[in-house]
Amino acid sequence: MSSQNQSSVLHKFKEILFSTMSSEELLNSLDSFSAREDDVFLVSYPKSGTHWIAKVIENIPNAEITLTSPIELGDISKFEELKMYRKRRVIPTHLNYSMLPVDIKQKQCKIIYIIRNPKDTAVSLFHYYRDNPNLPGVETWAAFLELFLKGNVVYGSWFDHVLSWESHRNDKNILFIFYEEMKKDLSKSIKKITTFLGINVSDGEINQISWKSSFREMKNNAAKENCDPNKTICALTSNKNLVFRKGAVGDWINYFTSKQKRVFDELFTEKMKHSELARHFED
Ligand code: A3P
Repeated sequence: MSSQNQSSVLHKFKEILFSTMSSEELLNSLDSFSAREDDVFLVSYPKSGTHWIAKVIENIPNAEITLTSPIELGDISKFEELKMYRKRRVIPTHLNYSMLPVDIKQKQCKIIYIIRNPKDTAVSLFHYYRDNPNLPGVETWAAFLELFLKGNVVYGSWFDHVLSWESHRNDKNILFIFYEEMKKDLSKSIKKITTFLGINVSDGEINQISWKSSFREMKNNAAKENCDPNKTICALTSNKNLVFRKGAVGDWINYFTSKQKRVFDELFTEKMKHSELARHFED
């Protein structure tokens, strides 16, 4: 990938790469965002399962919510747009903890942090880079992995992102959900999410949500959906074919050479040495 290609579609803000869909003016003004106490934020490093959790929440009967586009995507008119929603807002973001608007922290809004095995996340982001015209082109998996390990990708280093959020894992307004847990027992994750949001659902409703949020169902429906990129999470990814790729745990094994795995694991051990999250991702 040429550096010219990188800089034509990404820009750096506070040492982190953002797509040009996040205007510098908006990023500079994040702290002027006015949160509502009942706002819910869906936070993740890219490709960790954001659309999946969003769909789970959208499918909760009587949830009375509006799913918005990510808080950091767009220009300075973004906050005016967000003010227009009357229902409870569910707002996605890929921001790290330190960049999260201060009012969200002060009002202790509910936050769901979605986290996924970094090797699978890297593979997913590789495909996303390759197929998304809004991101720099990438020639090979090896070239992309190097960028990923250095944090030279959109939203920066996976390690920095998860560690910034892990420090707040025990805050009572923050719920951590693992992609792998959702794959293993989606009903259990749905129960956790609805309990956290204070919404009662019956077992039958959980089954319904689970069915409607399955990979197959979401992929099929995405092909039919007509997104308005300005109004919904579609703005995160207006071409849904880019999102629903494989939806699997452990696909990394088809990409990493043994040397790449070793390099990755060494960095992982170093960066995550004080992290309780590390044990979730032991292969
Ligand atoms: P893959 O590229 O590994 O298939 P995000 O929504 O944060 O952009 O994450 C996208 C990843 O979540 C993609 O991973 C996508 O397939 C996966 N995903 C989306 N919906 C899913 C579902 N219902 N079940 C399992 N994985 C899902």
